[in-house]
Amino acid sequence: MPWHPGLSVGIELIDEQHKELFRRAEMLFEAGRKGQAKEYIGELMAFLDGYTKQHFKEEEAYMLRVGFPEYEEHKKIHAGFIQKLQELRKEYDASGGNLTVIVSANQLVIDWLTRHVSNMDRRIGEFVRKQGS
Ligand SMILES: [Fe+2]
Repeated sequence: MPWHPGLSVGIELIDEQHKELFRRAEMLFEAGRKGQAKEYIGELMAFLDGYTKQHFKEEEAYMLRVGFPEYEEHKKIHAGFIQKLQELRKEYDASGGNLTVIVSANQLVIDWLTRHVSNMDRRIGEFVRKQGS
């Protein structure tokens, strides 16, 4: 499932970065269909490592800027994801990209991201809109 408007947080900078994360994760399915999942997964993990850190940093800076009250809690959840990503990376390095790692990567990225964006990130947008009204 790619990014869709139902996942919009209503903050352009954040939505654009989410779109990119979903786009890259989607490419894993594409690679899987072509029998190239094993090659792509390494590339995806390298991308996610840099991009999620940057994205979380910007999202956290945004939360601080607007005075979002759940900042601390949200930041901890981001750190938890980075941790999971690192564990996955280790598994990947150890296994050379077997099917289990590919399935975990897929679950981690798509499921976590979908849940996080629709539950947590949406609250930032809601907060900002409430402030503005
Ligand atoms: Fe977030």
